[in-house]
This record gives sequence, C-alpha cells and structure tokens, in this order.
Amino acid sequence: MSTILQLNAGVNYPESTTRMLAQEVIDAIRTPDTQIVVRDLTVNLPSVFGIDLLNATRAAGTSPAELAALAESDTLVDELVAADTVVIAAPLYNFSIPATLKLWIDQIARAGRTFSYSDRGPVGLLTGKRAFVVIASGGVPLGSPMDFASPYLKAVLGFVGIADVTIIEAGQMSTDPANGIELARKQIGMITR
Ligand SMILES: Cc1cc2nc3c(=O)[nH]c(=O)nc-3n(C[C@H](O)[C@H](O)[C@H](O)COP(=O)(O)O)c2cc1C
Repeated sequence: MSTILQLNAGVNYPESTTRMLAQEVIDAIRTPDTQIVVRDLTVNLPSVFGIDLLNATRAAGTSPAELAALAESDTLVDELVAADTVVIAAPLYNFSIPATLKLWIDQIARAGRTFSYSDRGPVGLLTGKRAFVVIASGGVPLGSPMDFASPYLKAVLGFVGIADVTIIEAGQMSTDPANGIELARKQIGMITR
C-alpha cells in the first residue's frame, strides 16, 4: 500500500483550481489500495515557527510550550515521512507561495528528521519520494522572472531529499481560465503512475 499526502495551501476554500487539479493528479496516480492523507493548511493552519520550537529542536527544551511546539512539528514531519508521494496545491500569491505553505515548510525542515548536516553540506533524508506541485496563477507564467514559487518549492523539496518533482501549471487564470485548466489537464495526462 502506498500513501499520498495532499497539501492544500490556497485560502480559496473549499473551491479552488489548485485543489481540483491536485485531486485530478491523485486520481491519475492512485491505485485501489492507496491511502490518501489530506492536510488542508488553510483549515489547519500550522503555527508560526517560533522560539519554543527553536528551543525544543536545538537545546532539547522541556517546557510545556516547547514540548507542544515539538509535538506539532513532529506530527507534520511524521506525515511527510510516511508519504510515498506528496501532492501540493499552491496558488501563486504575490509572486511566491501562500504563507500557509511557508508555515508548513518551516515546521518540516528539521535537522535530523528531514535533512542532516554532512562534511559536504546538508543532505536530504527523504529520498525515494515523488512530489507533484500544482501551481495556479492569475497571469504570471511559471518560469518567468516573477515566479518565485516553482524554483523555491523545487529547492525546498530537494533540500529534504525529494528530487523527483513535477510541476503542473494552471496559468492565465485571470484572463483565460478554461485554457489554463485545459493545459494543466494535458500535463496531468502525461503523468505516469
Ligand atoms: C492574495 C493573492 C495573491 C495573488 N498573487 C498573484 C500573483 O502574484 N501573480 C499571479 O499571477 N496571480 C496571483 N494571484 C492569482 C491566483 O494565483 C489565481 O487566482 C489562482 O488561480 C488561485 O488559485 P486557487 O483557485 O487554487 O486559489 C493571487 C491571488 C490572491 C488571492
């Protein structure tokens, strides 16, 4: 049995282009016994990375607040570690990712859990996973100089060891959404299970 972790990042809840297309990605790759874990980062907003989590991870803090911060981070890390495939639904917000997704990234980037330090620099620990990232945008094309979302997400996923990343673009959502969705569906149609 394989597990897919779906992360929904946009605030358009429950209707959104990225959620819809992420579901289509999942339908394209799932098998009958695939377990789907959905974490909606808008509904369950991760905490801002703060001093309690910093203390808990760096100095083995033991106060109730530090233990609670560590438990939240551990939950999100455990979910990611358990997934074979990660599907991220992320609209472009102000040329980058939604803050909800940045909160999640700050929770899961954990030395010793998702990456480690070596003589040759940091090493990602989550190898062997695939990621699909659905990014919708009003007008900024992915790969253009104003797209800070797709290179950033590839970098972060690569940092934790997830090198197999497929970006699905739903562009032109402000001007020609039907065409944007059609082009995204063509990209989804090329996904191999
Ligand atoms: C707060 C906010 C910021 C946005 N910033 C951008 C942007 O910088 N560039 C762009 O092309 N579209 C931008 N958009 C448009 C969204 O990316 C677009 O509407 C997308 O289709 C929304 O996806 P969703 O339906 O999954 O929420 C923004 C939308 C919102 C709500």
